[in-house]
Amino acid sequence: MGTSLVFASGKGGVGKTQTVINLGTALAQHGHNVTIVEGNLVTPNLAIYFGIPLHAKTLNDIVRGDASIDEATYVHEETGLRLIPASIQLHAHGDITSRALRGTIRDIKKHTDTVIVDCVSSLGDEVSEIIKSADKAVIVTNPELPAMADAYKTIRLTRHLGTQVAGVVVTRTGRFRGELSDDEINTLLEGTQVIGKIPEDNRVPMASSRSEPVVLAYPHSRSARAYKRLAAAMLGKEYSEFGFAEDFLNTLQS
Ligand SMILES: Nc1ncnc2c1ncn2[C@@H]1O[C@H](COP(=O)(O)OP(=O)(O)OP(=O)(O)O)[C@@H](O)[C@H]1O
Ligand SMILES: [Mg+2]
Repeated sequence: MGTSLVFASGKGGVGKTQTVINLGTALAQHGHNVTIVEGNLVTPNLAIYFGIPLHAKTLNDIVRGDASIDEATYVHEETGLRLIPASIQLHAHGDITSRALRGTIRDIKKHTDTVIVDCVSSLGDEVSEIIKSADKAVIVTNPELPAMADAYKTIRLTRHLGTQVAGVVVTRTGRFRGELSDDEINTLLEGTQVIGKIPEDNRVPMASSRSEPVVLAYPHSRSARAYKRLAAAMLGKEYSEFGFAEDFLNTLQS
């Protein structure tokens, strides 16, 4: 039985999906058996980030009993990463109950080392059900107060639901002067550890427009290196990088 990790934030647009797709890819590059599950049934977008054919079977089909887990799993050829997207059709989520979704996530865990669930924003019932279904939650936030306030609420909710908080990933760092420091974040979030920091990098949206995670599209970019460092740390492995040489390669790639 694997471990399930949900990536949640409360606030929208902080970088959850980017963190999920890049961390998932970087873990798979280490040979780790990872399945990413779309936890955003209302406005799903996982398929788009990987260029998955839109007619493929989805999480919605598994939950309704119309497809097996394998039938709705897309295997990324280059890395072996497994992905279960949700249907992008309007109203496709209407008849999916939270309980069915929880059961499905639990079943997927039987087939994989780590299940990563990309959560929808907000802190409503749907999010509570997804957080409850996971073993641990990773909180994604930006180094600014409004995002931090929602991260704090997400941590409180997660603990209240009995799910362990694995730590905080702070994304889009270095965008402006005076952003919150690790110590300030640690204090604001009642001692929750910052486990990763991902810098602001225009390679991230550039990679998305190519339907690829940045760790594959621009493997030497600052953001890709930060995601690879986080993946290595999660697996307890060393990550070596060659600062100047990587920056030089990065410049050649642009
Ligand atoms: N490190 C980064 N550098 C630059 N842009 C980034 C970075 N991380 C994310 N972004 C951009 O920020 C936007 C939001 O990212 P993303 O979709 O991952 O957030 P989200 O938390 O999943 O949003 P939602 O709540 O809508 O699901 C996207 O346009 C993405 O390209
Ligand atoms: Mg998202």
